[in-house]
Amino acid sequence: VGIATGRHGCAFDADGLDATAAAACVEGGGALHGGARLPGAADLIAAAASAGPARTAVVIETTPLSVLDGQPAASLLRAALSAGAHVITANKGPIACAWPELRAAARSAGRHLLFEGVVMDGIPVFSLAGDGLPALTITAIRGIVNTTTNYLLAALEEGREATTALADMRARGIAEADPSLDVDGWDAAAKAAALGNVLMDGRLTPAAVARSGVARLTCADARAALEAGCRLKLIMRVERTAQGVTASVAPERVPLDTLFARVNGTMNALTISTDALDDITIVQHGGTLRETAYALVADLVRLWRRIA
Ligand SMILES: NC(=O)c1ccc[n+]([C@@H]2O[C@H](COP(=O)([O-])OP(=O)(O)OC[C@H]3O[C@@H](n4cnc5c(N)ncnc54)[C@H](OP(=O)(O)O)[C@@H]3O)[C@@H](O)[C@H]2O)c1
Repeated sequence: VGIATGRHGCAFDADGLDATAAAACVEGGGALHGGARLPGAADLIAAAASAGPARTAVVIETTPLSVLDGQPAASLLRAALSAGAHVITANKGPIACAWPELRAAARSAGRHLLFEGVVMDGIPVFSLAGDGLPALTITAIRGIVNTTTNYLLAALEEGREATTALADMRARGIAEADPSLDVDGWDAAAKAAALGNVLMDGRLTPAAVARSGVARLTCADARAALEAGCRLKLIMRVERTAQGVTASVAPERVPLDTLFARVNGTMNALTISTDALDDITIVQHGGTLRETAYALVADLVRLWRRIA
């Protein structure tokens, strides 16, 4: 019934919009038409709420990542929950920056907040650890979780320039709208904060993650690592310490005979360490826009199963 964008307008029709026509319109560079035109997403949520509860069933949020405050997503999610909508997002910003408040807002509104696409696209990381691993403690999480930098490091090994690899990732829609968020480790830091907050009850934000990116790494660094029997990888770590849950993101030399060294190109991997089951590793063999879209569809189906 409603679609809000940044530069292509915002449309609302209580009887439903033509989604295919809207997508074609935006892809052609035009503004949304059909229904009432509204100034922005907050107005859309308010309009849907005033159309009645059935019209505010679910808000799906995919605005660009802001690692410092999770905005505008965090405010939009709060507005959607207090308007009585369930919420689905693929945006790690609000989960990394505002998880305690959003969880409380969802609980007090009696609505669901789903975000499986935040880490490893459609791979069910949060569902697995949240629903599938009761009665154990997650002691640490370690992973290669940023596709753009993993692809870039593989390109450096092959003697290709970082700028070409980054252009590839932008063309495939995988790099963030601002690619420095990938290269400087912010995307991985936001994922570390989201994982630490949700799965380990941490109090992290992306800014609290000790962070070092891959911008300074060169083909020579990648070759030197190989000669030493290792491969450069941007490794995210979340750990339970005496000081609470802490996290870091940094390039590391990973020995060639380990699983993480074989996580190449657009692959991702995550190892969840537990007290009862030891280590559980999930490997994603390719993350594209299709997998992110699947995460949103899967969350919709999960939501339907919970409320039906
Ligand atoms: N791409 C991936 O592979 C991937 C994977 C997992 C998670 N994510 C997350 O998904 C989110 C979207 O990523 P993306 O690659 O699709 O980004 P994108 O191509 O930049 O799309 C962002 C969308 O948000 C709209 N938008 C911007 N500001 C808005 C506002 N204030 N109100 C309403 N809409 C607004 C934009 O509209 P206009 O185009 O009109 O400006 C555009 O439709 C990000 O948070 C990202 O971290 C992406």
